[in-house]
Amino acid sequence: MLITVIGSGYVGLVSGTCFADFGHDVICVDKAEDKIEKLKGGQIPIYEPGLEELVASNVKAGRLSFTTELSDAVRTADVVFIAVGTPSRRGDGHADLSYVYAAAKEIAASLDGFTVVVTKSTVPVGTGDEVERIIRETNPDADFEVVSNPEFLREGAAINDFKRPDRIVVGLTDERAKSVMTEVYRPLYLNRAPLVFTSRRTSELIKYAGNAFLAMKITFINELADLSEAVGADVQDVARGIGLDNRIGAKFLNAGPGYGGSCFPKDTLALVKTAQDHSSPVRLIETTCSINDQRKRSMSKKVAEAVGGDVRGKKIAVLGLTFKPNTDDMRDSPALSIIQALQDKGAEIHAYDPEGMDSAAQLTEHVTFGSDAYEIAKDAHALVIITEWNAFRALDFGRLKKDMAAPVLVDLRNIYGKDEVAKYGFSYTCVGRPDQEI
Ligand code: UDX
Repeated sequence: MLITVIGSGYVGLVSGTCFADFGHDVICVDKAEDKIEKLKGGQIPIYEPGLEELVASNVKAGRLSFTTELSDAVRTADVVFIAVGTPSRRGDGHADLSYVYAAAKEIAASLDGFTVVVTKSTVPVGTGDEVERIIRETNPDADFEVVSNPEFLREGAAINDFKRPDRIVVGLTDERAKSVMTEVYRPLYLNRAPLVFTSRRTSELIKYAGNAFLAMKITFINELADLSEAVGADVQDVARGIGLDNRIGAKFLNAGPGYGGSCFPKDTLALVKTAQDHSSPVRLIETTCSINDQRKRSMSKKVAEAVGGDVRGKKIAVLGLTFKPNTDDMRDSPALSIIQALQDKGAEIHAYDPEGMDSAAQLTEHVTFGSDAYEIAKDAHALVIITEWNAFRALDFGRLKKDMAAPVLVDLRNIYGKDEVAKYGFSYTCVGRPDQEI
């Protein structure tokens, strides 16, 4: 198949590269000339483990190319994927669909022969209908079908999630489009990945429902963590105890400072808005959003308690800035809320993150960035772990004890326990495990 992907960001670049790795011929299109020039030069503008090698091998095989020219790439394509950003609209939380609609208009003008136009971006229910209307209005003679095919990629694990999906969801009604999409995903289909065909609107809702449920599941265990602290239970054992019930499942039950990222915060809000617009509010998700926002900010109280009640004038060393490990993405990272709250209380923040500091520097003020955990811990009154990078899983507490102003560890990802830190004389604060605290 000849596939064109509009938008070479986290979703478009990974999807296009993996389609090429399936053996399809893929053109990735983006308006950002510098991004396309970097990609043509073998430079990957995002941090995604394994992507650089995959891009290089498929470019070398002649199956993958990059361009800013949309029209030619659309004209020759059998399938055009729209993978442009759908950020939260300023102020009201609805998804901003301006990039999707602009792409639809440009695609319409260049359609030649039967073409399947696929919305891969996360778009509210009904967007496919609007994309179809725009294309038909722009080019009444075009022979095309609009299909929904949401992505379920986790940053940091996107290639694995694309190549070994739990399912592929395709929203369509037309038989020609169905055979094209079956061909597009044949390598996965042959690997027994379930190909779920449904209506376009149902497919659009599945994406939001999936992310909202995961966000709710995380928020559930975060609330259970607070309850565990109040009643003297251990939230990790609670998670294990309920997670062994295969109706619940063990994943996404790690209590922490709250969820962040480019998806959960945006998609939960967009679903809430869609539901409100249709007078069928999703109150569980409304509550999930407010609990999560409040939780991120409240983590600064844990830090203040750990240093004796007041962080004013104290140096706090923050380990981990990105919203999760193995990404450079700072979007809606809990670290941003926690750092702001600590600075509002007068703390001096030093921070280290293996990949996120460039982005963090654009999103924070008065933060001093260091080259590793030990540099930022010098003379610090507390060391706070916010993101569970592997680099933070075997810290030398003997060395930290010597360099810090006070041996205080606040572990918001429950990486450690009292056994690992007590012998070095550290006090230990964590999430939902009061018996581990010292
Ligand atoms: C998510 C969905 O997992 C993915 O399927 C969808 O396509 C895009 O959104 P992503 O946002 O990349 O992926 O990261 P994910 O691994 O889901 O984590 C999201 C947030 O939840 C992170 O801040 C993470 O720290 C947090 N989280 C995750 C927890 O706090 N506890 C958990 O147990 C799991």
